[in-house]
Amino acid sequence: MSERWTPESWRSKPVLQVPDYPDAKALADVEAQLATFPPLVFAGEARNLKKSLARVAAGEAFLLQGGDCAESFAEHGANNIRDFFRVLLQMAVVLTYAGALPVVKVGRVAGQFAKPRSSPTEKKDGIELPSYRGDIVNDAAFTAEARVPDPRRQLMAYRQSAATLNLLRAFATGGFANLGSVHQWMLGFLKDSQQSRRYKELADRISDALNFMRACGLDLESHPELRATDFYTSHEALLLGYEQAFTRVDSTTGDWYATSGHMLWIGDRTRQLDHGHVEYFRGIRNPIGLKCGPSLKPDELLKLIDILNPENEPGRLTLINRFGADKVAEHLPHLIRAVKREGKVVVWSCDPMHGNTITSTTGYKTRPFDRILSEVKTFFAVHAAEGTHPGGVHLEMTGQNVTECIGGARAITDEDLNDRYHTACDPRLNAEQSIDMAFLIAELLKNERDGKVKPIPAVAGF
Ligand code: TRP
Ligand code: MN
Repeated sequence: MSERWTPESWRSKPVLQVPDYPDAKALADVEAQLATFPPLVFAGEARNLKKSLARVAAGEAFLLQGGDCAESFAEHGANNIRDFFRVLLQMAVVLTYAGALPVVKVGRVAGQFAKPRSSPTEKKDGIELPSYRGDIVNDAAFTAEARVPDPRRQLMAYRQSAATLNLLRAFATGGFANLGSVHQWMLGFLKDSQQSRRYKELADRISDALNFMRACGLDLESHPELRATDFYTSHEALLLGYEQAFTRVDSTTGDWYATSGHMLWIGDRTRQLDHGHVEYFRGIRNPIGLKCGPSLKPDELLKLIDILNPENEPGRLTLINRFGADKVAEHLPHLIRAVKREGKVVVWSCDPMHGNTITSTTGYKTRPFDRILSEVKTFFAVHAAEGTHPGGVHLEMTGQNVTECIGGARAITDEDLNDRYHTACDPRLNAEQSIDMAFLIAELLKNERDGKVKPIPAVAGF
C-alpha cells in the first residue's frame, strides 16, 4: 500500500460492483468529458466539514447525515429538494436544542446515484435481467434495453447534482434556513399530528429565546450564525471512473480532493483491503466514511484505519455502523475497544437502516420503525458503556409523505405500504417518521449529556 497513489491507481486493483458497459470507448469519452467539467465542491469546504467532524469525534458535536437511498432522475424537482431540506432542518433544530450540541448537517444528496447490488442479475416471472444499479448506470424499468449500462447517464447525474447543490446552497445561506423561520418549516406538515404539535412547542421556545435576546439588545440580523447554516453533501463513491474524473488538485494546498461531493463513503461490500475502492479513498483528502457491517473484524478495521487515516487526523474518518438491531450489541463493543486501544480518532455514526430491512407480509421490502429506533438506542447504550461518544446517525429519509417503512407514530401497516411506495431502492423514513426519529434521538442525546443513558446494552426485544 506504500506504492505511489494517483487518481487512477485504483484501476490496477480488483474492483467489485462495476457495471458491465458494452461500449468501452463511449465510457472513456464520457469520463474524459467529465474531467473537463467544473468541480461541484471546493476543497476548502471539505476541509471545513473535516474540522466540524473533528469536533464530533471529540464529543463536542453531533452528525446528522440523511437523504434518499438513491436519487432519481424522474423525481428531480424543486419541491422534492425543498421538502427534504426542510425536514432535515427540522430534525437538526430538534437535535441542536435538546442535545445542546452543534449539529453537523450532511445530506445523502447531489450525487447519491450509484447502488451496489447483492446480485448482478434480477429475476421476475422467469425472466432474468441485469440488476438496476442506480440512475447513473441504468434504468429501473424491467426491460433488457433499460438495464443496459449507459455511460451518458453520468453526464446527466453530474448536471442533476449541480442543480440540486445550487438550490441547497441557496436555501442554506439565502434566508430559508434562518432560525427566525423555524415556524415556517412547519408548513407542509400534516395538520394536528403528534409531531407537528411537539415541533410547534419547540419552535415556540426557540422564538421566545430569540425574542428575549433581541429585547436584550442583540441585533439578530447581524449574526450570520442565526441566519444561515452549513450544509454538506455526501454519497457512496461506488463508480470510481466518475469519481476519478472529479478528483482534482486543490491549488491552495497541492493536495488531491474528490470534488463530486464534500464527504464520500465506502460501502460495506467494497471495503476489501487490497481492492480498488480502498486504494482510491486513501489518496483523497476529503472527510470519508466507512460502512461497518457484522462481517467486519476488529483487526481488519484497524488495518483499514491505517490505510485510510495513517496520520490519525481527527474528522477524516467516520465509521458508519450498520449491524442490525439484533446484532449491534454483539459487534459494536469489539470495534470500539480495538479503536480505543490503538488510540485512533474516529467519528462513530449509526446507520440503523441497512441492517433492519425485511420483507413485509404484503411482499414489500420494508423496515420497521421500532427496529430502527432499537438499533439507535443500543448504539447509545453501548457507547455509554464504553465511555465513547455516539457521534451521529445516518438515515435514509425523504421529505415526502411516502409509505415505505412500517410503524412510527402514525403506525403505517403492511397493508399501507402499497399506497405510496415510491423509493427507487431501499425504504425511507417519511417526513413524519423522520421528525419522530429526531425527537427520540434528541432524548437519547439529552440523556447522554446528563449522564443518564443506561450503559447496559439491551440485546433482545425490539
Ligand atoms: N448556524 C447554526 C447551525 O447551523 C444555527 C442555525 C441556523 C440552525 N439555521 C438553522 C440550526 C437551521 C438548525 C437548523 O447550527
Ligand atoms: Mn440504501
